[in-house]
Amino acid sequence: MAGHTDTVLRRLCKEQGAGLVVTELTSSYGLYFRNARSLKFLRWTEAERPIGAQIFGADPEVMAEAARLVSQVEPDLIDVNMGCWVPKVARTGAGAALLCDLKRAEAVMKAVVRAASVPVTIKTRTGWDGEVGSALELARVAEVVGVAAVTIHGRTAKQGFTGAADWRPIAEAAAALSIPVIGNGDVATPADAERMFRQTGCAAVMIGRAALGNPWIFRDVRHALHTGEVLPPPTPRERIEMVRRHARLVVAVEGDDPDRANAPLPGYARGQLGHYFYGLPGAAAARAALGQANVLGDVERLLDRLEAAIAAAPDWQWRPPLGRPLSGVGSG
Ligand SMILES: Cc1cc2nc3c(=O)[nH]c(=O)nc-3n(C[C@H](O)[C@H](O)[C@H](O)COP(=O)(O)O)c2cc1C
Repeated sequence: MAGHTDTVLRRLCKEQGAGLVVTELTSSYGLYFRNARSLKFLRWTEAERPIGAQIFGADPEVMAEAARLVSQVEPDLIDVNMGCWVPKVARTGAGAALLCDLKRAEAVMKAVVRAASVPVTIKTRTGWDGEVGSALELARVAEVVGVAAVTIHGRTAKQGFTGAADWRPIAEAAAALSIPVIGNGDVATPADAERMFRQTGCAAVMIGRAALGNPWIFRDVRHALHTGEVLPPPTPRERIEMVRRHARLVVAVEGDDPDRANAPLPGYARGQLGHYFYGLPGAAAARAALGQANVLGDVERLLDRLEAAIAAAPDWQWRPPLGRPLSGVGSG
């Protein structure tokens, strides 16, 4: 997820049992022109494996060059984004716009499959607007050209994040294809994941927004699927410790010493860390303080205050983080 699933969040999700993680979407043009910002997306650690590198673009040659470049850094797979609806991407014919142009989508997939030295997967939506474009049609082409798996987010591009995800096209594709279909959309609890498997017959479930500030979702889903039991949510203290670790890891990834209180906190980290506070006493104040945090020490201090607020409220009842509505501010 753009702006969120960097190396740090991916590591934390992996530690909690995520089976496969994927980079933020990366521009094929950015890679083609060796843009430093795009190349930064190709940074991961061995602990994150298996990892997919996600690229987007509409020009088969540029996509092929991007796939060659990405292959050199050896992800476990390359995922082609065919689901992003944001105008910046879709207006160029890339992302979800490829649902409307199967010929181009086919050329892109063929070029990437040929150029890549690792398996290629695609991620798409159910269609463009309910009339034009169909995940099943695109997936059939994908299967023929050698794509290894297809992820379907159960919304059209036009829907963005509105309405509820429709899992029927996922079931339809899972029944029709011989390659694995990964179901995605509105899975926020272990029960949702179980229902997604049962209702669609998908080979795997992809979780997006429910992992923001909540890497434990993978532990919870895994445990529930294997044992039928629902684990208790992380304690407030565990949650705070995770925020501390997350913040320190971000600082370390940016090349600074996480023991240095005045190590700068990168702006993107504020967006990531704010998600952890849902359901905690003093969450609103903590998020406001986070908005003002410039250095690691600011985060450490606000976490200390949050810890004190929790200690002062022994009767306070945990509000499960998964109970919060999934917001739709994303791109895919
Ligand atoms: C902030 C944000 C960023 C996203 N970025 C991407 C992206 O880079 N690539 C992608 O394939 N999907 C992206 N998505 C879409 C998610 O991967 C997923 O398909 C969607 O959120 C539905 O799944 P969920 O209900 O589990 O969140 C993004 C979503 C959000 C909220």
